[in-house]
Amino acid sequence: MEQARLETITLTVNGDVRRIAVPPERTLVEVLREGLGLTGTKQGCDEGDCGACTVLLDGRPVLSCITLAVEADGARVETVEGLADGPRLHPLQEAFVRHGAAQCGFCTSGVLVSARALLEREPAPSREAIKTALSGNLCRCTGYTKILDAVEDAARVLREGGR
Ligand code: FES
Ligand code: FES
Repeated sequence: MEQARLETITLTVNGDVRRIAVPPERTLVEVLREGLGLTGTKQGCDEGDCGACTVLLDGRPVLSCITLAVEADGARVETVEGLADGPRLHPLQEAFVRHGAAQCGFCTSGVLVSARALLEREPAPSREAIKTALSGNLCRCTGYTKILDAVEDAARVLREGGR
C-alpha cells in the first residue's frame, strides 16, 4: 500500500509549541480534535457555514474546518481550551454562565473565541459591533440575546480590571 505523504508543521497551540506530521489535506479542526485531543473546538457543518469550528490564528478568527493544517504552519493557534487560566474561567466564560448564554453548547466555543478576538481589538464594542463580530457564529438555541448580553457584560468586567 502506498504510504501517505506527511508534512511536519509547527503550531503554537494555547502557548505550547507542537510539531506534528500531517497529511497535506488534513484540516486544522481535524488536527486539533483528533491529533491533539482538543475537542473543545466543534466540527459542525464542515463547510464554513456555522462557525462552530472557529479558532484564533495569530489572533484572528478563522474557520478551522476550511483551513488546512499546513496553512497554519508557524502560526499561533488559540482554542477555547486556552481561555481559562487553570481552574479560573475567563470573564467571557463566567459571563456566559451568569447569563445562561450557553444552552446545548455546540456553538459556544466558536462564539467565545470570536468574542475574545473582538474584545482584544475593541474593549468597549457597541451592541452592533458585537452582532457583526459574531455574525458568522450560528446558534440554534439561545436566540442570541443572552449571548450579546454576556459579551457586553464580559467587556465591562474586563474594562474594570477583570482578567
Ligand atoms: S464546522 Fe466550520 S463553519 Fe461549520
Ligand atoms: S447554545 Fe445550542 S447552538 Fe448555541
